[in-house]
Amino acid sequence: MRTARNTADLRQSLVAWRGAGETVALVPTMGALHAGHLSLARIARARCERVVASLFVNPAQFSPGEDLAAYPRDEAGDSRLFAEAGVDVLFAPGADDIYPPGFATRVSVSGLTECLCGPLRPGHFDGVATVVSKLLVLIQPDVAVFGEKDYQQLLVIRRLAADLGLAAEIVGAPTVREEDGLALSSRNAYLGAQERTAAPALHRTIAGIADALVGGDAEAAPLCEAGRADLLAAGFSGVDYLELRHAETLAPLARADAPSRVFTAAHLGRARLIDNVPVAAV
Ligand code: PAJ
Repeated sequence: MRTARNTADLRQSLVAWRGAGETVALVPTMGALHAGHLSLARIARARCERVVASLFVNPAQFSPGEDLAAYPRDEAGDSRLFAEAGVDVLFAPGADDIYPPGFATRVSVSGLTECLCGPLRPGHFDGVATVVSKLLVLIQPDVAVFGEKDYQQLLVIRRLAADLGLAAEIVGAPTVREEDGLALSSRNAYLGAQERTAAPALHRTIAGIADALVGGDAEAAPLCEAGRADLLAAGFSGVDYLELRHAETLAPLARADAPSRVFTAAHLGRARLIDNVPVAAV
């Protein structure tokens, strides 16, 4: 695996691959890799002849007061793991390369960003949409792989790719979990030992709600209210949301009588954890 530190360097590989008629998959990340990220790299590897993984802790998607400075960083470790996963080029640009002096363009997706994490993290999805658009335009991959763990982000990226006429197929990858159900996340590193014991309650709660909603008859509201109480009882300090929404439009649903998912974000110690699960179709 080769590391490209700027766009000019990256282009050399892209031009050679395209010249040889090879397909290219992209896996965007902010590093601090875990098995979830690596599952995306393996999906990319299976889909295309060449794989580019990007490693860029994108300042534009952190709201003021969030954990930009504290965000875990380990480029040497990440580099080893991506190489083992079959990545051809690691694109690890500097901030000046992604945001050159005078940078003034922003990609903003309306609708899908106006619920769940959107209002709680002002500017976050604009930051994500802008950097991912830049990567998709620069690399022009055949396939780009994103995790369902960040399901709202996945839908936002599908929308911008369609709206901007970007050719990449946006592939969603299943959430990789610890044995106790906790979704892998770089931010799990913030959890102390006691908090780590409490953390699986997040997945257990939404999975229980999703089970109870199968068939489309049960009301979501009382189940979600009870789920909030369960999370607080388990040691979470606050629940930002716990909601049933349509799996494609993110419209709120009273019952799971359409393709739907249960979404949550909650605070545990220093960490803000998010998760979501589908309600199984009958
Ligand atoms: P990051 O949080 O590093 O995640 C990179 C990719 O890994 C995202 O597509 C995310 O959904 C996926 N991922 C994270 N945890 C996962 C898990 N447990 N199972 C499967 N996939 C998982 O998401 C971002 O970075 C950034 O917003 C980015 C898209 C790179 C733009 O800056």
